[in-house]
Amino acid sequence: MSARRVDGPVDLRSDTVTRPDAAMRRAMAGAVVGDDVYGEDPTVRRLEEEAAAAVGQEAALFVPSGIMGNQIALRLLAPPGSEVLCDERAHILLYEMGAMAALSGLQPRTLGSHDGLPPPAAWAAALVPRGGYRVPTGVLALENSHNMAGGVPYPRERIDPVLALARGAALPAHLDGARIFNAAAAVGTSAAELAAGFDTVMFCLSKGLGAPVGSLLCASRERIREARQLRRLFGGGMRQVGVLAAAGLVALREGPRRLPRDHEHARRLAAALAELPGAEIDPARVRTNILIFRVIDRRAAAGSDAAGPVLRRLARLGVLASPVDRERIRLVTHRDVGGAQIERAIAALQKVLGGRRR
Ligand SMILES: Cc1ncc(COP(=O)(O)O)c(C=O)c1O
Repeated sequence: MSARRVDGPVDLRSDTVTRPDAAMRRAMAGAVVGDDVYGEDPTVRRLEEEAAAAVGQEAALFVPSGIMGNQIALRLLAPPGSEVLCDERAHILLYEMGAMAALSGLQPRTLGSHDGLPPPAAWAAALVPRGGYRVPTGVLALENSHNMAGGVPYPRERIDPVLALARGAALPAHLDGARIFNAAAAVGTSAAELAAGFDTVMFCLSKGLGAPVGSLLCASRERIREARQLRRLFGGGMRQVGVLAAAGLVALREGPRRLPRDHEHARRLAAALAELPGAEIDPARVRTNILIFRVIDRRAAAGSDAAGPVLRRLARLGVLASPVDRERIRLVTHRDVGGAQIERAIAALQKVLGGRRR
C-alpha cells in the first residue's frame, strides 16, 4: 500500500504528517512483541540498542513523543528551582506547554541568537553558580537542527565552545535533536558526531525519518535507568509497543539516507520564493527540510495578519503550510512529498505571492 497522497493536498505543514510506508506496515504486522513496561518487548529493545548506537550513547529509551523525551531529560539533569538555559526560539521553551515549569519546577532563561544557536559569550554570561542568592543554572539545552530558526544545522565547531563552557561549570547539556539526522546530512557528518559530549540526546522517528510515532531519549546506562522511572511518572509507559518500534526500526535504518532529497526540495522551494515579490527569504540559509519566509504585503497595515490570507489562498490551491507568526510562514519537506508535488507547491506560491520579479 502506498502512503503517498498523489492527488490530495501538498502537505508542507510539518514532517510529522508522513504515513507509514509499505515496509513499515509489513514490519508492524510481523513484529514480535512483549510487555515493554516489564522490559519484555524484544523489538523495542532492538530499537533502543540501534538508536543508542546511532547517536553514540550507551543506552536509549523509547518514548511516545519528542516532548516527553525532552522533558524527561530536563527533569533528569536539572534540580527543581534551577534554570534551563536555551535559545529564545527553542522548542522546549515555546511549544512544550510550559512543561519544564509545570512538571519539573524548572524555569527557562532565554538567550538571543541570530540563527538559533546563541554565541558562547551569551551562554557564559548567563551561567549562575549554585550557592548565591540567584537562581542557579541547572542545564544547557541546544536544538540541532533548529526548527524555528528555519531548520538551521550546526556543525561541531559551533557546538564545542558551548559544551566546553558547560563542562567548565560542571553543568550537564541536553540536545533536542528531533531532526539530528537532517542536521547530520546537511553538515556532512554523522548523528553520533553531532551528539558527542551531550549528557542526553533526544531524537524523533516521527519527523524526517518517517515513522508514525515515537522518539528516543539516549544517554548513559545509568541515566536511562532513571529515565525509565520518569517515563512512568509522566505516564509514558507503553505495553506491546513493539508494533510501533518495528516501524521505528525501518525509519531508523532507511530514513537517514533519503533526507538529502527533502533538503533538495526545500532548496528548490526557497529558490522559487526568492524570485517572488510577495516573499522574503535568504535561500542560502535553507540547509535542511525547513524553510521560513516573510510575507511582503505593502498594502497591509503594519502589524496586521499578513500570513493568514496567504495560508488560506494556498490551501484553496491545495498547498498546506503553517503560520510562524503574523508575517511568517513555514514550509517543511518530507518523505511523502515528491518532486511533482514540489512543482505544484511552487506554482501555487507563484500565484499567491505575485508572479515573477522582473
Ligand atoms: C525541535 C523539536 N523538538 C521537539 C519536538 C516535539 O516532538 P513531538 O511532537 O513528537 O512531541 C518538535 C516537534 O515538532 C520539534 O520540532
